[in-house]
Amino acid sequence: MCKSPLHPLLTALPKYEHHVHLEGTLSPSLLFTLAAKNNISLPPSSPSPSSPDPPDPAFLSPATLSARYTSFSSLSDFLHYYYLAFRVLLTPADFESLTYSYLSHAARSANLRHAEVFFDPQGHTSRGVPISHVVDGFLAAAARIKAEFGLTATLTPCLLRDFSVEDGLSCLKEMISSGFYRDGKLIGLGLCGTEISKPPAMWKPIFDLAKHHGIHRTAHAGEEGPAAYVRAAVEEFGLERVDHGVRAAEEEEVVGFLVERGVMLTMCPVSNVALKGFASLGETPVRRFLDRGVRFSLNSDDPAYFGGYLQDVYCAVEEAFGLSAGEWETIARNAVEGSWCSQERKAELLDEVEKVLRGWTEKGE
Ligand code: HPA
Ligand code: ZN
Repeated sequence: MCKSPLHPLLTALPKYEHHVHLEGTLSPSLLFTLAAKNNISLPPSSPSPSSPDPPDPAFLSPATLSARYTSFSSLSDFLHYYYLAFRVLLTPADFESLTYSYLSHAARSANLRHAEVFFDPQGHTSRGVPISHVVDGFLAAAARIKAEFGLTATLTPCLLRDFSVEDGLSCLKEMISSGFYRDGKLIGLGLCGTEISKPPAMWKPIFDLAKHHGIHRTAHAGEEGPAAYVRAAVEEFGLERVDHGVRAAEEEEVVGFLVERGVMLTMCPVSNVALKGFASLGETPVRRFLDRGVRFSLNSDDPAYFGGYLQDVYCAVEEAFGLSAGEWETIARNAVEGSWCSQERKAELLDEVEKVLRGWTEKGE
């Protein structure tokens, strides 16, 4: 909870999330529960039995793991723990529990109304877990969430830059030929993992294939990479959105390019601070982007790892920047406009924004 007079507005404001990794919502306590259910040893055993690494003490308990999650030194330090945790996710029921626990929490605590959730298909197929297990579990939970909260949720695979381009291409081909896109079970394509030494041009054939099939496209860019990386990703992949994109702020010319193209950035300021991209939230370019007319939404990224669930992100931004009610309205409207949902659903979501803001103004606040 923030101390701002706008706090009641911030809790009531309908939220739209476009950058949350399903696997990044796996809390230490659910991780330990699923490990016990699926008979998976924690800490994970050493890759080399002949010269075993000492066991990582972070895996002693949910509390020690939570404590370790407060001190990531970089994106790669975080990704090490993030990928290790995938091992406990095996069955459709596991993915259903994970999805239900995040979305129900976000609906109650943040008034989340529409979520476009990422998952990492290669992180599962490489362990022998089929993509259909993720999709089936997610859709089962999403149907319950829609019935209980009226919250709509869709699923988008994020290919991993840590795997080869060939692997990514064959993963996308498999998802297309399995009919996941035709049936509306998946709606877009993303790309995540480290940007270092992975220039956008490498991944162009993958995004060309997605474009050919009319698949929505986004990619993580400008989290670690420079502004030029963001511009190249937008141009090479024909992106509608950019995930993070914060380093674009370092080049005025790239900021202008994003405004001109109407590209929406899915900002995750709490994640950026947790991964040491910025020393404090006030240094992230929220104010700069608002003033320059760059469209963005605010997101949690990997909330179980960064200690910032969606409502916390909104409160942290308000505490750092002291935005006005009108600026929050702009953020909410841009987030709806940048969503990958039907025009009818957008109209409903915009109505909800309007009602909350009207109520706030009528109270004279
Ligand atoms: N950046 C890159 N890869 C990721 C992230 C991120 O923020 N979260 C999960 N995978
Ligand atoms: Zn991300």
